Amino acid sequence: MRYAGFGGQTKSGPAIPSPNIWHWPEVYEQENRAQDADGALWAALAEAAPWSGLDVVDVGCGDGFHLPRFAEEARSVVGVEPHPPLVSRAQARGLDVRRGGAEALPLSDASADLVHARTAYFFGAGCEPGLAEADRVLRPGGTLAIIDLDFTVPPYGDWLRADLPRYDPAAVERFFARQGFDQRRVTSTWRFPDRATLESVLRIEFAPTTADRAVAQTPGLTIAVGYRLHTRRRPAGLVLGGRRS
Ligand SMILES: C[S@@+](CC[C@H](N)C(=O)[O-])C[C@H]1O[C@@H](n2cnc3c(N)ncnc32)[C@H](O)[C@@H]1O
Repeated sequence: MRYAGFGGQTKSGPAIPSPNIWHWPEVYEQENRAQDADGALWAALAEAAPWSGLDVVDVGCGDGFHLPRFAEEARSVVGVEPHPPLVSRAQARGLDVRRGGAEALPLSDASADLVHARTAYFFGAGCEPGLAEADRVLRPGGTLAIIDLDFTVPPYGDWLRADLPRYDPAAVERFFARQGFDQRRVTSTWRFPDRATLESVLRIEFAPTTADRAVAQTPGLTIAVGYRLHTRRRPAGLVLGGRRS
């Protein structure tokens, strides 16, 4: 994946570039439609952090693709996204998406039950300000759920590591464990309607040589993609800024 960095954001600094959705939002929309075709990821999330009747925040929500799915059962859903063109795209879809980053959410204290972030590479080592901010916005007992790609699962993980040889999957997992998160591995299926769509998605995710390899190693219309789902509950009675809530 053409990630520009992992968890290197400053406390209130700019968004970490996300070339796939920033430069090719229409292709990324096709990617989102192909992802999790059998619902394995949604099922794991619903088991770990059910949202029925609750207030949900989707951080780094892009153009809001996942908001309607949450809205089917949630009491409310708000998206937060730092990249202005994506905020505009989401708002044009009639979604409640506000401009902001993980480190400074434009939301009140204790106003959400689930803070969700998907393919959220901005939550990695160095993202402690973002984790603290999620805890501020969560009600006691609420859950922060972070979904990211699992670089250890072939074939997609092999292509990720080809493009990002310095990425250390074990170190990332240790970081989340140290921060008190549970971890579940989910292998999900991406299913494309045709080869042209599959190829265009692989070409926005990988450098040209890796994309060529990925296309050659994918004979059909599906790809197995591993994810890590990390969840952490905000303890009841957490002391925030010197006051107990
Ligand atoms: C790979 S996209 C995923 C978008 C969306 N979650 C989805 O699954 O469709 C990552 C998103 O994170 C956003 N982002 C980058 N830095 C961020 C930060 N510091 N806080 C919140 N979002 C950030 C990017 O602008 C981009 O929209």
